[in-house]
This record gives sequence, structure tokens and C-alpha cells, in this order.
Amino acid sequence: MHKVIFDTDPGVDDAMALLFLHQHPDIDLVGITTIFGNASIETTTRNALFLKKAWQIPAPVAKGVGETIDPARAHAGWPVMIHGHDGLGNIGVPDTVDGEPDARPAHRFIIDTVRAHPGEVTLVAVGRMTNLARALAEDPGIVSLVKAVVIMGGAFDVAGNITPAAEANIHGDPEAADIVMGAAWPVIAIGLDVTMKTVMTRSALASIATASPRAKLLADISDFYIDFYAHIVDDGMVVHDSCACVYVVAPELFTTRTGAIRVVCGGIADGQTIQKADGRAFPPSPWDGLPSQTVCTDIDADAVMALITETLSRV
Ligand code: BDR
Ligand code: CA
Repeated sequence: MHKVIFDTDPGVDDAMALLFLHQHPDIDLVGITTIFGNASIETTTRNALFLKKAWQIPAPVAKGVGETIDPARAHAGWPVMIHGHDGLGNIGVPDTVDGEPDARPAHRFIIDTVRAHPGEVTLVAVGRMTNLARALAEDPGIVSLVKAVVIMGGAFDVAGNITPAAEANIHGDPEAADIVMGAAWPVIAIGLDVTMKTVMTRSALASIATASPRAKLLADISDFYIDFYAHIVDDGMVVHDSCACVYVVAPELFTTRTGAIRVVCGGIADGQTIQKADGRAFPPSPWDGLPSQTVCTDIDADAVMALITETLSRV
């Protein structure tokens, strides 16, 4: 079993990833920590509690931060055209839902859980990296206790999706991402290089929806997002965040490259992710002395989509 803390900004593709984690038999979801991004921290936390209740997920929800690690960064607004005003595809999530978040802030929940299970916890982070950066600041010792940090974020050999240079999760807090990539824990970055190859069609989701009320809710949430993606893919949605979850249970479905990663902080390439591949020699550079991390460069998209479909269809 893989113990997972899911750091998330639900978020439509986040919702799919959450259901994947909940229903995969080899995953023990030990916590859900929220982060701002697809909506405000109040909305993403409300949404996590809503999904926890609707899907009867036992894991606690811990509320994370609502602003970037550098408070001087300007706030760019929420992507309501992608995830809806309620962050879950405008299905009409109630303003308040039953259930309270954990008393601890997300970064403290992460530290406590990692320390309670040394070497066992995988952090799957599919939003801004701010909670992880805060956990590192408060307790740097966790780097040797975390099993792995699997992130959905970055655009390494391809264009970004929020600017030509940057992917949204990294662009939303580049300083935090640079801290997370540069820490001495094993990071696996699942970026647009691979996620853009994973498309769930509306008709495939409609078939999945017949499996359970949980899957039906997921399909309802996803409709709006599929409409948004119409200009990019044919009647389907890119399942960014689920790819990071699949990596936890099936890393053999990904092609990888190792090397130190830096995140550009500022300027026109703000949020760009750049890896210095191991074995390449350069004059002294800002990548020197940093840990070698793993970037996914290719994916067996058919096999990944088959695993996602099978897992979401579980009764
Ligand atoms: C990422 O940005 C968010 O909108 C999605 O949930 C995903 O985590 C894709 O760039
Ligand atoms: Ca996300």
C-alpha cells in the first residue's frame, strides 16, 4: 500500500484525481491538504470537504495557505472559465458543507503525518507548491523522511499553458516551486510534456458515470471543463492531476530523465521549469549542487487512460 497525502486545489481534474486515489486498491489516502489556485483557499477547502462527504472519503482535510510564499507577488484572479465559479464546474456546490477541516494548517499536517510514518508517505501535489515549501521551512528534516514528492507541474520540453513559458501550478507560485524542486527529497515532476497526451473523452466519462453515484458526480463536475477544452482537444478533457496519481502505482508507464531543476522567478519567463540533465556539462550555473530530480518526458497514454478508467469505474 502507498500512503499518500494529496495536496490539491479542487478543481475539476483534481476531483478526478481524488476519486482515483480513493478508489485505487493500492493507495492508502491518509490526508487531503488544500491549496489556492483553481479557486480561493476558502473555495478549494469547501470543495475538498464537499467531495470527502459525497464520496465518503475517510481521510481528513487540512486547510492550506491562500497566498504565495512571497506575499509581494500580485494575485492574478481565479480561472473561473476553466473550473467554474464554484471550482467544480458550476454544479452548484452549497456555500457551506458539513464537516470541519483538521485543526492544523496543511503544512503542519504534512509534517506530523510524515514524522508519524517515516519513509512511508508520498506527497502528491497537484496545485501550487506553497504548502510544501512552508512545510520545508518549518521542518527541513522531513526531506529524509518523505518517500517521494510527485507533482503535477511544469513544462520542460514543451510550451506552457498559462504563458508560452510556464505551466499554471508552477506559475502560480514560482518561488515555492523552486524551493520544492531544490530540496533533497526525491521529486518526480509530471508536467505538460506528458499530461497533454492524456485525454478522457466525454463519451468515455459517460460510460464510467454508470458505474456508481460517485462516478456520476464526477461526470457532472467535468462537463464544464470539457466545454472549455473544446479548443484544445476533441470533446474531452486533459486529466493532468490524475497522471501524478497514476505515477504512484504505475511508474513503469512513464519515461523519465534525471537532473537538477530550477524555476525561473520573475521576468517574461516567470514560472518556467528548466532541468539540467545529468551527464550534460556546462560552465558553473545556478543548477550546480542541487539534487538530481526526475522529470517525465513521455507516457504510455493508452495504458494510463485504461488504468484511470478502470479505477474510476470501480463499484
Ligand atoms: C494544472 O493547473 C490546474 O488548473 C489543474 O488542476 C492542474 O493541476 C494544469 O496546468
Ligand atoms: Ca490541480
